[in-house]
Amino acid sequence: MATNENHNRMLISLIAAASENNVLGKDQDMVWHLPDDFKFFKRQTEGHHIIMGRKTFSYFDKPLPNRTSIVVTRNGHYSLDRADRIYLTRVHATLEGDAFFPAFNESKWKILSEKYHEKDQKHDYPFTIYIMERKNDREESN
Ligand SMILES: NC(=O)c1ccc[n+]([C@@H]2O[C@H](COP(=O)([O-])OP(=O)(O)OC[C@H]3O[C@@H](n4cnc5c(N)ncnc54)[C@H](OP(=O)(O)O)[C@@H]3O)[C@@H](O)[C@H]2O)c1
Repeated sequence: MATNENHNRMLISLIAAASENNVLGKDQDMVWHLPDDFKFFKRQTEGHHIIMGRKTFSYFDKPLPNRTSIVVTRNGHYSLDRADRIYLTRVHATLEGDAFFPAFNESKWKILSEKYHEKDQKHDYPFTIYIMERKNDREESN
């Protein structure tokens, strides 16, 4: 999917190569080699944001250059393993829920800033906004 600004309205485009019976791929791979179509894909998407599934993103060795890749996944660890920063608001309460932030090793992250906010008339719970950065190898061994 590629997006364009067009007279203040964002244009949302789908981009795909499909066989006559709408096959896109097989066994996590493409089922054809069409270099001129790859060039067309590159021309159309360069400078844009492209949204793709986690499996398609994993197919490439590295993110496609000159584009911003947005990857959808249901696996929180997938993003956690690749993130350099975490902006985490820790709500100081133990609550019932059915969606969870992934457990992560806090010793691998250094806190750049933390800002506590009291519970008050407008805020149900007290909370702390943390900005954390992944430690580099040297920092981790300390
Ligand atoms: N011909 C073409 O134009 C073209 C283009 C791209 C890819 N392909 C081919 O297509 C195949 C890959 O396609 P695919 O459909 O198997 O995989 P995909 O769409 O690349 O990735 C599927 C993954 O996306 C995540 N996902 C899907 N829906 C989601 C949602 N609503 N919310 C959050 N995450 C969501 C899930 O990741 P998690 O499992 O991590 O939760 C899911 O397993 C390959 O064969 C590839 O070569 C062809």
